[in-house]
Amino acid sequence: MDIETLKNTLLQRVGESKAPNEVLKASEFRELYAKIPTLAPEERGAFGRQVNELKQAVEAAIQVREAELEESNVSPIDVTAPFDINAKKPTLLPSENGTTHPLMQEIQLVSDIFNRMGFVTEESREIDDQYHMFETLNFPKGHPARDDYDTFMTVETDKDGDPLIAPAHTSTMQVRSLIKYRDNLARGESIAVVVPDRVFRNEDLDARHEHTFYQVEGVYAAKGVNVGNLVATLQAFLEEYYGRALKTRINPFYFPFTEPSFEFSLECPFCENGCNICSQSKWIELLGCGMIHPNVLKAAGIDPEEYTGFAFGCGIDRLVMMKYGIEDVRHSESGKLNFLRQF
Ligand code: DAH
Repeated sequence: MDIETLKNTLLQRVGESKAPNEVLKASEFRELYAKIPTLAPEERGAFGRQVNELKQAVEAAIQVREAELEESNVSPIDVTAPFDINAKKPTLLPSENGTTHPLMQEIQLVSDIFNRMGFVTEESREIDDQYHMFETLNFPKGHPARDDYDTFMTVETDKDGDPLIAPAHTSTMQVRSLIKYRDNLARGESIAVVVPDRVFRNEDLDARHEHTFYQVEGVYAAKGVNVGNLVATLQAFLEEYYGRALKTRINPFYFPFTEPSFEFSLECPFCENGCNICSQSKWIELLGCGMIHPNVLKAAGIDPEEYTGFAFGCGIDRLVMMKYGIEDVRHSESGKLNFLRQF
């Protein structure tokens, strides 16, 4: 077989192969290499060059084929998945060109504290369906409290024909977390999950309101869980996060997915007698919390007669702003270097 015919055969083989790289190991190549020393010295150079060109052509075809295979290998797109499973690995910038964003550093810290307290960390999603945003959380269709969670919608719809949404809270992960760790209960263990992640609201923007921010959701369920466990958990977390003893208080509140529900406040760390940050009240409302509503437990297939639990949702930007005395929530998403370089 002359080299030109051989080239066509090998290129065809590459085009059909699922492991195109293997073609480089073909016996035909070995035969060509073995032939070189048997040739007259004046023929060797030209023949060697031809073999080399053949090898380069095959290598180029392999690259094309591998890219083709990678593309055809893509999984179907799940628009609600926490990340794009088909995305190629990003090329990272050299680390000296950047640092971790201050909010990400704090989120890591929040997550670490809860992990030390026995909670596992889960990720939320950036596009979700209304079933997880509302239905699983005891807001039936048409419930007026849905209006408190005005967010962004996509043109695509879910299987009920409702638009997909950018989640307005991390509570979308409550039922998912309860289902994922439900088997813990049967083993006599608790379900203890935190979800620190990004949420979105259609807000009029000002120093205290941003369209994109972060919350940490907590979900805990076991036998005999009570409000005392909820308060002690939050108090322990906050004292660890701020590194000092703190006074806290709870007031009754309303959320459809907890019963009873509370607003959890922290003694203002900036003043003793009232200041602008606490609106002269000496207390800062920090988060919503309560005992998980029986309907939410039922939505996760957990018997509310047997198990109880608590949940909480806390704005992370707010926690961080109070820790460092940051006066405007919009700094976090601004990407301004003179802000970022202070951390
Ligand atoms: N998801 C609520 C919000 O963003 C906060 C919240 C309240 C979360 C009570 C909870 C909870 O888990 O139990 O307004």
